[in-house]
Formats: sequence, C-alpha cells, structure tokens
Amino acid sequence: MPQPPPPPSLFPLPLIIDSDPGIDDCLALLLALASPELDVRGIAVSYGNTSVEHAFRNTVEIVRRAGRRLPLAIGARRPLRRALAVALETHGESGLGYAEVPPSGVALDFAQTLERLLERQDGPVTLVTLGPLTSLALALRREPDLVRRRVARHIAMAGSVGAPGNTTAHSEFNAWCDPEAVDTVLRAELPTELVGLDVTRRVLVSGAEIERLGHAPAEGARWLHDALRFYLEFHRRHEGIDACVVNDVVPIAALIRPDVLTFQPQRVMVELEAGERRGQTRIDPDGARVRVATSVRPQLLRALFLERVLPWLGATTEVAAR
Ligand code: BDR
Ligand code: CA
Repeated sequence: MPQPPPPPSLFPLPLIIDSDPGIDDCLALLLALASPELDVRGIAVSYGNTSVEHAFRNTVEIVRRAGRRLPLAIGARRPLRRALAVALETHGESGLGYAEVPPSGVALDFAQTLERLLERQDGPVTLVTLGPLTSLALALRREPDLVRRRVARHIAMAGSVGAPGNTTAHSEFNAWCDPEAVDTVLRAELPTELVGLDVTRRVLVSGAEIERLGHAPAEGARWLHDALRFYLEFHRRHEGIDACVVNDVVPIAALIRPDVLTFQPQRVMVELEAGERRGQTRIDPDGARVRVATSVRPQLLRALFLERVLPWLGATTEVAAR
C-alpha cells in the first residue's frame, strides 16, 4: 500500500528579522545565520540601541562576518511620537561596544522598507522583532493587508509582564522606546508572541565565558569579545551581575528549539502615559490577545547558542563551558 507523504516539515522556517544591532542583537543574528533550521530571507534594520545608520553598518558587518549575503531593509529612524533615545550606555557609541567596525554614514534614503521586504516573499513568513516595534507599526499603518498576508507569526523581544523593567522600574527598553508602536502592533493581533524580560533575564553569558572568548585564537572570537566586554561592563555597573543578559538570543533560539520557551495566551496592554510607566506592558482584561512567554529552559537555550555560535567563531564549546 502506498505510504502517506510525511507531514510537511516546519524547517527550514522562512524568517525575516527586524533588528537594531546592538550587542545582544549581534549574538541573535549570529545564531540565526548559523542555524540550518532557519531560512533567513532578509533583515530590516531600525534605530534603537543606536542610530539607524550605525545599526545598518553593524548589520552589514555581522552578515559579512557570518559569510552571508542577504537582502537588507531600512526601517524606522525614530519613534512614532517620542523623541529618539538610543542605548549609548548599554551598547556603546557604535552600538557594538569596543568591537572595531567600519565607518557608517551611508545615505539610506532609497533603501527598501520592511514592507517591501515582506512583499518580495513568495508566501507567509515568521517575523521576529528584536528592537523597537516602530518599523512594524509603520508597515501596519501603511499596508495592513500586506502585513497580514505575509506575517504568519510575529515573535517579539519586547516588554515584561511580571519582571521589573530595564529602562524604568516598569518598562523594558524596546517597549519604552516607542509605546505607540507597541500599541499599534498589539491592536493588530497579528498573531504576536511577546518574549519579554520575564524570561530573557534568566539567559546569561558569564564574565568568565566572555573573558575566555578573548583568548580564543580566531579573530572573530576576539571581535565578539570586544563587543561583549563593553556589555559586561554595563551589566556589572548597572545590574550588579558578572554576566550579560542576552535578551535577543531568546526568541531566535525558540524558533530553532520551540521547547526552550513556554507561552500562555494573555491579554496585554501598553502604557502610553509619560513617566515611570511609559511602555509598561501589563496583563489587562481589555488588552489585545497575544501569547506571552512565561518560562524558559536557560541551560538548554545556552547549550544551543554555544554549540552553534562558538564553532563559527573558531572557539570550542569548552571555551565557554561553565
Ligand atoms: C532589548 O533592548 C536592547 O537593549 C536589547 O537589544 C534588547 O532588544 C532588551 O530590553
Ligand atoms: Ca535589540
């Protein structure tokens, strides 16, 4: 008897990444580009950790170092309504800490937007956002039908529903940057999944691991070490920990190994008032329907990350093993 065809595989998963590199964005992009389960179709770059010009230059450098060529798009340069603020203290002037990068300053005005990148796809894709949600909000405002047709799933590193904030006592950086954009995206109910500080704060790369990376023979490892030691200094100073929280790695890892995160359906709202609660994401019966990541398996996630990214850096897993 003829056998039924095997179920269609989830992998390779067609993926578009919206990012603002950013040191943890850099790690997340390296993980995505080192993972055969993900078919990265393009990267849209936005302001956030640094200016859009620096973030674009950083993306080009990361993709080059990963040995890939990819369509890149330019998303938002500034929030919808709020003043532009970048994370100089966390990610440094260039956005990549002490890592050496070429000069930026390319004219970006005629580059394609996130929605054009979406339009060029031959079918629905997963969209992962690792920075402020402005580019997606703009795409939704300008071409809602296109976004709905193309975005089968949206997974965002943004917000926190229980954990304290990292920008104010209540707010996570990406949500704080542009709460109006978060509001637009939540109301669209795409479907969106929020991977916030509740889970990302539990995924750490230690000071000792970063230190060992600096002694690895390959230039790529030392380059990343230069980025990470800046990030580590920030965490030592501001968070009082000898480790870095690698937020943006978490949603990428969850696309590769879904069992690293557990999600719950929730209704979530974002605070639009100025002040300490600006950008706070909270559970509210009148909020939008989303799925929220509520628990994480940090060891599994770290193992995946180290196994994939360290060999690419020319470092062995022992370099960073605890
Ligand atoms: C988020 O803000 C940025 O600093 C990181 O890149 C991450 O996307 C964490 O709050
Ligand atoms: Ca980011």
